Amino acid sequence: MAQKKLWHGRFSEAASRTSEEISESISFDYVLYQADIRASLAHARMLAQCGILTPSELEAIEQGLKQIAQEITEGKLSFSAQLEDIHTHIELRLTELIGDAGKKLHTARSRNDQVAVDTHLYVREALLEHRSDLLALLETFIGLAQKHQETLWIGYTHLQIAQPVLLAHYLLAYFWQFWRDLEFLDFTLNSLRFCPLGAAALGGPNYAIDRQRTAKDLGFQAPYPNSIDAVANRDYQLNYHFLAVRIFLHISRFCEDIIIYSSTEFGYVRLGDAVTTGSSIMPQKRNPDIAELLRGKCARTCGNLVALLTNLKGQPMAYNRDLQEDKVYLFDSIRQVKLGLRGLMEILHHIHFEPARVRENLARGFALATDLADFLVRERGLPFREAHAIAGAAVRYAEDNNLRLEDLAAKDWRQIAGFDLELPEGFFTPESSLRRRQGYGSTHPDAVAEQLAEARRELDRAKDYKP
Ligand code: ARG
Repeated sequence: MAQKKLWHGRFSEAASRTSEEISESISFDYVLYQADIRASLAHARMLAQCGILTPSELEAIEQGLKQIAQEITEGKLSFSAQLEDIHTHIELRLTELIGDAGKKLHTARSRNDQVAVDTHLYVREALLEHRSDLLALLETFIGLAQKHQETLWIGYTHLQIAQPVLLAHYLLAYFWQFWRDLEFLDFTLNSLRFCPLGAAALGGPNYAIDRQRTAKDLGFQAPYPNSIDAVANRDYQLNYHFLAVRIFLHISRFCEDIIIYSSTEFGYVRLGDAVTTGSSIMPQKRNPDIAELLRGKCARTCGNLVALLTNLKGQPMAYNRDLQEDKVYLFDSIRQVKLGLRGLMEILHHIHFEPARVRENLARGFALATDLADFLVRERGLPFREAHAIAGAAVRYAEDNNLRLEDLAAKDWRQIAGFDLELPEGFFTPESSLRRRQGYGSTHPDAVAEQLAEARRELDRAKDYKP
């Protein structure tokens, strides 16, 4: 392949090796090849329509680009740092294949708008894939919640046993977090609705082209209204990174729960072999590596967001070469999000809940002390603060005497509260506690059933929506 730079006309000396190494992006931007060819085809069709290319030149370009797409897919086109980026590789190969018509493809276009349109297309594609993965994930959470509408779980604050909740309620908390990610994903897709192609270097081309046509052809709503903004804008990438971070924060928090809950000390969940690994030295081990790695990958997506923020800060308008680096962060996060969503699905498919252990711990953790305080308010008319103090004293008394709250007898209550207290039969069962919770959004079984129906409706709506 010819090794002349695209800009060789103006230059007499070759770039140094180091400069070439710094300049190249082919090692990471080759993933854009399909988007690049798609955008070039749209551009060429538009140029022909506007009389800038002849029909036979267009035909040659179309043939050539299709062949190049195939060559790259089959790994038959070799990449070289000297040819810098994917755009150059494709253009030079095209010229090699079809001669002068190949050299005309770049009429009324710059690599600045070319790389912008390619990344727009690439991110849009990735978002659509994430969207269907997120929908599947939400479906899985609903399925699990449905199955565990009666399963007892422990709600924690400060990682201390707080109150009994339904497992469905706990799982649906994650449903809503990922559901908001879906909302933000749709927002991010919307931020990609303008087409940068035809902005050329920054001021628009010296040809009467039809930007509406390429925009429509490539599935955008309209061209960017401002050609400077079109090549300088990376806001859609900021949105993408923030989305990636949010998705990963939610994945990471769930993984953190699962790592803790799967320990011998907790034992609330068991993870299947598909998502655990053994130790090379300790035969008894069953490590939640996949959950840990997903937690670790969250850091990476945070880093990529910060990298782009830092890259953009202080860049003068419009295009600067720093922008080439955006793809390093972008492609990495896209790959990680794909893995993250699939990985979490795997974990959910290989998780077994152990409600017996949960029940055991609930009994040990005085999880119904709040219920006791509320009973004193309701039945004995005590102010909540006083009731809270009595319930606290009861917990201390039970702890000191190695008893559970339900074991306390009349004489104990006289000592604790200064009066006799009779609690209704079954008061201290977790199930009765759940039934005492009240109101919309609570963990009362009826409220959870209502919530589940609402989650279902929202998911169906999101599925019907065509972004
Ligand atoms: N590889 C470059 C990038 O990713 C393409 C744009 C080059 N434009 C330029 N003016 N040098 O940003």
